[in-house]
Amino acid sequence: MTRPDKERPESLGFATQAVHAGNAVDAGSGAIRTPIVMANSYALPEDPENLSWSGFDVPLYTRNTGANQRALQDKLALLEQGEDAVVLATGVAALHAVFFTFLRTGDHAVISDVTYEASYRLFAEILPRRYGVEATFVDTSDPEAVRAAMRPTTKLVHTEVIANPTTRVCDIAAVAEVAHAGGALLSVDSTFTPPPLYRPLTAGADLVVHSLTKVINGHGDAMGGVVVGSREHLDAIRAEAMVDVGGVVSPFNAWLISRGAITLPLRLRQHVGSAQRVAEFLAAHPAVAYVTYPGLPGHPQHDLAQRQFGGRGNGWMMAFALDGDAALQNRFVADLRVITSAVSLGHDESLIVHVGPTGARAAHWPEEFRRYGHLRFSVGLEDTDDLIADLDAALTTVRA
Ligand SMILES: Cc1ncc(COP(=O)(O)O)c(C=O)c1O
Repeated sequence: MTRPDKERPESLGFATQAVHAGNAVDAGSGAIRTPIVMANSYALPEDPENLSWSGFDVPLYTRNTGANQRALQDKLALLEQGEDAVVLATGVAALHAVFFTFLRTGDHAVISDVTYEASYRLFAEILPRRYGVEATFVDTSDPEAVRAAMRPTTKLVHTEVIANPTTRVCDIAAVAEVAHAGGALLSVDSTFTPPPLYRPLTAGADLVVHSLTKVINGHGDAMGGVVVGSREHLDAIRAEAMVDVGGVVSPFNAWLISRGAITLPLRLRQHVGSAQRVAEFLAAHPAVAYVTYPGLPGHPQHDLAQRQFGGRGNGWMMAFALDGDAALQNRFVADLRVITSAVSLGHDESLIVHVGPTGARAAHWPEEFRRYGHLRFSVGLEDTDDLIADLDAALTTVRA
C-alpha cells in the first residue's frame, strides 16, 4: 500500500483531498490555512520587460490570477480529476466562458432542450442574434437524437448530467462518443452531480462546468463558477474569456468556496440520503400529483442513473407538484415552517421554489410540469424527519 502524503495529493482518498488540496502553510505568517489575499496586485520582478501583461501563469493582478483563485483551482481540478481548472465569478460566467471561447460565427451547437435558464437563453436568443452561432435543442437523454442533430459545423455539444429542473439524466459516455465522432467538444454542466457522485471527464467529456454557488460551496453565502478540463482548453478560456472579459471570482468568495468544499463529501452523503427518503415520502402521498427524482424506480432514467453514478446516490434535487392549481402550490409553500422558499440550491438549508409553466423553456418540459407547474426542491442538511414532518403538515393544511 502506498503511503498517503499531503505533498502528493493524488495519493489521497477523496475526503482527504477535499480537506487538504489547495491548502498549504503560508510562508509569510506560518498560518496552516491559506490566508485571504485581498490585494489586487502582486510585486513585479525587478525587470518586468519580459512579462506578458495578459499572462496568467504568475500572480500579477487578480484579474489574471491570484493566491485564492489558485488554491481553489488546485482543489477543484483534483476533485474532478481534471488537468486544470479556472474559477470565475458565477456559474453563468463559467458557462459563458466555455461558449464564448469555443464557438465562432457560423458554428453550430447541439444543446440539451432542458437546462438551467441562462444556458437556454444564451443559445435560444443571445448567441444566435449577436454572434451568428446556430443551435439545435434536443433531448440529450437520447444519444441518437444528438447524433441526428450533428452538422459538419457542429463544434460543441452541451448538456447537464441531471437536468434543471426536470431531473432528466444524460448518458455522458454515449453523448461523448457522438460528439467526438462528429468532431465536436462535449461540455457538461455537472452542478447537480459534483464529485465524488460523478466525474464527467472520466466518461469522455472535454469540459465540466459547476456553479460553485451551489453544493460545492454549500453554505449559500458566496457565488462562483468553475470550468475543469485539459490545460490546452483551460489556457484558451483564460486567454479569451477571463483576462480580457474580466468575470473573475473575488478572493474572498474563492476562499469561502475552498472552505465550503472541505466538507463536500460529508454533506453530500446527508443530502443524498435525505433526498431519497423525502422523494419516497412525497411519491407515496395522495395529495402529490408527481415527483421526479432519479432515485425513484419510476424515473425514466432510473437504471441509467444507478449505472452511471455507481450507486453513490442520485443527488439532492427533485421536482414535484400537488394535485391542484398554482394557488394551491403557493399555499403549500407558504405553510412550510422549516423549508425556505427561495431560489438557488445545494445550500445547507432546504430551499423550495414554485415555478409556473410559462416561458419558451417550458415547452420542452414533461406534460405534468406543464399541467401543474413544479416545485423545485433542494433537500438540505436538516434532520430528514423534520423535513418530512414539515412537508406532511403543509400537505395536511392545504388538503383541509
Ligand atoms: C445547473 C445550473 N447551472 C448553472 C447555474 C448558474 O449558476 P450561478 O447562479 O452561480 O451563475 C445554475 C443556477 O441555478 C444551475 O442550476
